[in-house]
Amino acid sequence: MNVILLGPPGAGKGTQAVRIAEKYQIPHISTGDIFRKNIKEQTPIGVVAKSYIDKGQLVPDEVVIEIVRQRLAEKDCEKGYLLDGFPRTTFQAEALAGFTTVDTVLNLDIDLNLLMKRLTGRRVCSACGESFHVSFIGDAKECSKCGGALIQRADDNEETVNNRLVAYTNQTAPLIDYYTKQGTLKNVQADGKIDEVFAAITRVLG
Ligand code: AP5
Ligand code: MG
Repeated sequence: MNVILLGPPGAGKGTQAVRIAEKYQIPHISTGDIFRKNIKEQTPIGVVAKSYIDKGQLVPDEVVIEIVRQRLAEKDCEKGYLLDGFPRTTFQAEALAGFTTVDTVLNLDIDLNLLMKRLTGRRVCSACGESFHVSFIGDAKECSKCGGALIQRADDNEETVNNRLVAYTNQTAPLIDYYTKQGTLKNVQADGKIDEVFAAITRVLG
């Protein structure tokens, strides 16, 4: 089962990916998480990625494509994978087609006006990676799943979110057409409750 999660920033890709990976027992590969790990460890990739991510711009195609190509060659991807946040440009999608076959593209479909609130109110567990929202957890400082410290992502401020939404509209949204033409795109309504969105995803994936 080779699956792509497509959708704008804040649509719930990471939230749903954790649940999909657990149910279908496939590795969750988030290019954003890979970059954040590299930034934390101050690797050369992290230094390059940070200069783009802080501005809400996409990291250059050649950097991200090579990371994904290597990751998909690892043994745990033999029975399938879930890509979260890749591809994000038509160039990335074409490169991906050169080294793997995608079965299903889940497009998390949501009104872009809902996303600013979701992102500026997001808190992420620094230990297990689970996402929360202040509207549910208030000013809690610890993760309810593992007790890890909750943090706010550096790119979840209003100015950077605006730039991320522009990058999505200009560079990533054209992939909806691209995968529709390939016959692999499935739309999932992403403005419902987390469990409702997940139920819709499982109806598509079986
Ligand atoms: P990345 O980490 O992928 O960020 P993103 O696409 O901007 O998406 P997010 O992680 O912000 O949102 P999400 O859809 O995962 O939402 P979440 O589930 O957390 O990328 C970061 C940066 O890295 C990019 O800007 C770019 O610079 C770079 N990058 C990464 N991949 C790249 C690539 N392929 N090419 C080039 N550059 C790349 O949910 C958001 C919030 O909403 C949470 O608070 C959550 O609790 C809440 N929520 C979720 N679902 C619901 C619901 N159903 N109802 C109510 N609240 C909900
Ligand atoms: Mg995410």
